Amino acid sequence: MADECFRRPGLAAVYDRLGPDRRGLDPCLRTAEETGARHVLDIGCGTGVFALLPAGGGIEVAGVDPARAPLDVARGKPGGERVRWIHGDATTLPPLTVDLATITGNAAQEITGPEDWQRTLQGIRAALRPGGRLVFEPRIPARHVWEEWNREATYGVTEIAGAGAVESWGDLLDVSGPLVTSRWTYVFAADGQTLTSDSTLRFRERQEDEAALAAQADVLEDVRDAPDRPGREFVFVARRPETARRGAPPTPRHMEADRTILATKSGATSAGESAWKRSSCSCPVPPSGVRWRRAVPN
Ligand SMILES: C[S@@+](CC[C@H](N)C(=O)[O-])C[C@H]1O[C@@H](n2cnc3c(N)ncnc32)[C@H](O)[C@@H]1O
Repeated sequence: MADECFRRPGLAAVYDRLGPDRRGLDPCLRTAEETGARHVLDIGCGTGVFALLPAGGGIEVAGVDPARAPLDVARGKPGGERVRWIHGDATTLPPLTVDLATITGNAAQEITGPEDWQRTLQGIRAALRPGGRLVFEPRIPARHVWEEWNREATYGVTEIAGAGAVESWGDLLDVSGPLVTSRWTYVFAADGQTLTSDSTLRFRERQEDEAALAAQADVLEDVRDAPDRPGREFVFVARRPETARRGAPPTPRHMEADRTILATKSGATSAGESAWKRSSCSCPVPPSGVRWRRAVPN
């Protein structure tokens, strides 16, 4: 379930500006490079911050999200026409076959029910080609990051071009086992509007995600450390086992999926490819003139 921050147009529009440090995307970019992925699916793509990066390098990218507001923001970004944006989630995907699936920005934690999470993994598996990989990056529960989600520790003012100053802070509302509910408040100085966004996240133990992957016979290849938040996030790299024989011809489903994804977009330009190379393994730079004081929940 998308929390309000991503469903409300006003908040979706400023989401990128409130969370500028996106070095957390590096492991996903690295996996795309290391594995030579040509087709990528970004689940919970939000405003498309990750999806646009591989798309700029000529990779076929589909981004799926259950919230329309961030998809609208993503669509309107430079290069947005290169990505196939899908309103939905991993359980409602059209036929696709991809080499790499990603879930960035802790979006995996928004899927709070164990059965929903398992269905999400099943949907991803169905979209992955044999040997294809899934990368996702949930926070480590033992760090108890929610203990920092209070006004004193999170208050900040962010100057956003076109929106003016935005005051924001978080409040912890509830901790019930692995479920943590918080409220994020945003005050727009330009018109005095106050928006709040309630969010419930599930903090799964490493073993819980390992078991969910094992339940569908996915191979856990690696659990890496997050470059931007060392010791604070697990970066899971899982692989759908090779079931097809080496050298076997593509199945009709693969061919149909390739046609489907290709039919929706124009090819990437060489300028886009350069942008991908430049952006690979580097943090997107915040627009000049923007003063960052605080990120969205970390
Ligand atoms: C913290 S944002 C991250 C967005 C993006 N991945 C990024 O890195 O900027 C979480 C996203 O997960 C989406 N989401 C919530 N529930 C979901 C679900 N069941 N399946 C896929 N995405 C979901 C939300 O709508 C939101 O856009």
